[in-house]
Amino acid sequence: MKALQIIKYGEIKDSLSINEVKKPTLKPNDILVEVKAASLNPIDYKMVEGKLKEMISLNLPSTIGFDVSGVVVDKSADVNNFEIGDEVYSRVPQEQMGTVAEFVSIKSNLVAKKPSNISFEEAAGLPLAGLTAIQALDRVGIKENDRILIHAGSGGVGSFAIQYAKAKGAIVYTTTSSKNVDWVKALGADRVIDYKTEDYKEVAQNLDIVFDTLGDDYTFDAFKIIKEGGKVTTIVGPPDEETAKQMGMKEYKLSEKLARLIKEKDAIYKLTWMQPNAEQLKTISKMVENGDIQPIIDLIYPLEDGVDAYLYLATGKAKGKVIISMS
Ligand SMILES: NC(=O)c1ccc[n+]([C@@H]2O[C@H](COP(=O)([O-])OP(=O)(O)OC[C@H]3O[C@@H](n4cnc5c(N)ncnc54)[C@H](OP(=O)(O)O)[C@@H]3O)[C@@H](O)[C@H]2O)c1
Repeated sequence: MKALQIIKYGEIKDSLSINEVKKPTLKPNDILVEVKAASLNPIDYKMVEGKLKEMISLNLPSTIGFDVSGVVVDKSADVNNFEIGDEVYSRVPQEQMGTVAEFVSIKSNLVAKKPSNISFEEAAGLPLAGLTAIQALDRVGIKENDRILIHAGSGGVGSFAIQYAKAKGAIVYTTTSSKNVDWVKALGADRVIDYKTEDYKEVAQNLDIVFDTLGDDYTFDAFKIIKEGGKVTTIVGPPDEETAKQMGMKEYKLSEKLARLIKEKDAIYKLTWMQPNAEQLKTISKMVENGDIQPIIDLIYPLEDGVDAYLYLATGKAKGKVIISMS
């Protein structure tokens, strides 16, 4: 079968290649999915660039991609929860990475039926971004009337997070650049801050929650705009101590700066490292079928143009999700 593979660490254009590889085999509890669409995520190209080498070790060449939608074409004897022909989607676990390919095998307990009212391309864009948004927002207990700033509302994670926060009854501020303001507002954000012309720190203040999807100074500056006892939930900042322990970082301590900022505001600070989760995928399916969440697709590429698709995502300017379609 054909697969887009990481052949070495380095620049995207030199390190990815479409190769002919063996079809995956089934282990206990696996289903085999014929891929209809895969979506791309920043973690993929960060791995190509070698930025995550210490956390995720790859045996190269390695097929790329974590997000998939497709049809079940085979299953191991012990799988009872899916039938051949089921239309499914998943964020596959690290050890089964390789969704940008014609077939992928997946632990069946990490798969859910895809929402029935959307295309395979739309469904493929939901798992990783949607699970990340849900896990990061639920981790700090988002609830009705919370005032939240979601950074990068036009990104894959941000565009889902806005809709999820609105479904929870929160009052949503979000940042994006001028060209995206209108469509991000249409996702339901109460106040879209154009970072080209406005300072978000002046517009959004005394917040219950900041969802940090940008990192660096954005993580630290979040503490300036939360209220006393507010919460900063990040997916790109340094780990909090509880999460560091879960990630196996035994000797980890918060930096003095971060510890001071947390103390000064009596704040809660959490890093979420997204975990595959089929129950939450079922929640996403329901929300999409109810019309609470709509998938946001920027561009769809054929497999042959997979390298271009990654080059585009890596510009950091994608408007929603970038998809590879196999049809
Ligand atoms: N911890 C985890 O488990 C986890 C999971 C998923 C993602 N992540 C990380 O979270 C980050 C976001 O992921 P993603 O998939 O949403 O990325 P993405 O889709 O590539 O984000 C692109 C968007 O970011 C916006 N953006 C860039 N700079 C901005 C700024 N200064 N202010 C406001 N918006 C800005 C861009 O809008 P403009 O063109 O308007 O600038 C663009 O629409 C990535 O670093 C990713 O690796 C972590």
